[in-house]
Amino acid sequence: MIEVSMAFKNSDTDYGSIAKWIHWLMAMLFLAAYVSVYYRQWFTEAKTPENWTALQLHLSFGVSIMAIVLLRLVWRAMNKSPKPEPGTNLEHLAAHLGHYALYVIMIIAPITGYIGTGVHTEFFFLFDIPKFSDTVLFQYIVVESWGLTFKEFEKPIDFIHKEILGAWLMWILIVGHAGAALFHHFVKKDRTLKKMTSSAP
Ligand code: HEM
Ligand code: HEM
Repeated sequence: MIEVSMAFKNSDTDYGSIAKWIHWLMAMLFLAAYVSVYYRQWFTEAKTPENWTALQLHLSFGVSIMAIVLLRLVWRAMNKSPKPEPGTNLEHLAAHLGHYALYVIMIIAPITGYIGTGVHTEFFFLFDIPKFSDTVLFQYIVVESWGLTFKEFEKPIDFIHKEILGAWLMWILIVGHAGAALFHHFVKKDRTLKKMTSSAP
């Protein structure tokens, strides 16, 4: 019989159910953010309803990521991390830096997406979230302190969101991360992936 532990919190050997749910929900949201934005670019014509819907889904998934990563960081701070599987110091350092970088992109990608977008977000077509350029923060910081128009401000931010993060850095980090998990599972045959899936030994 497979023993499934219902622990909410992490243990020395496994992530708890909350960390697992948040982790895999986050993975789904990243997939959804990518699918919606590439669907828009590759399969829709500009200024059609499909184009707008796909964009709004991208924005909604992105905003969800922004909210959930905050919950995730709070939960992480309240929990011990499971002990790593045996490996060299260098491997442990690489895993640490990789996870750290993933947290950084989970924060920076939604922020650059939000502040560089010239349209409001129709959050899953339920309610509207005003665009950044309509907020007082934009007025105070970007217009009054920096003396920039939205067009001037948007350009470098969009470059970071689309060209650096979207097209390159996130792919490298996520594929590297998932690849490392599969390497542990199938080549090193340790419990790294199991810690994040089942708690059965
Ligand atoms: C972690 C969350 C996010 C991820 C992974 C993500 C990823 C991407 C990617 C891959 C692209 C296409 C890059 C390219 O042109 O090659 C993109 C474009 C874009 N993103 Fe995001 N994004 C996220 C969050 C957001 C948020 C929160 C917003 C705004 C509220 C946003 C607004 C946009 C806009 C307006 C575009 C341009 C769409 C287009 O030109 O078709 N993104 N994003
Ligand atoms: C198919 C895709 C994925 C697989 C197979 C996977 C697998 C794993 C595994 C096995 C761990 C535990 C590693 C350990 O404890 O040493 C882990 C942790 C982690 N994953 Fe993923 N993951 C995937 C997608 C993602 C995505 C899309 C993100 C975020 C963008 C992400 C962010 C993280 C983070 C930040 C941790 C560290 C958790 C912590 O200890 O705070 N993962 N992942």
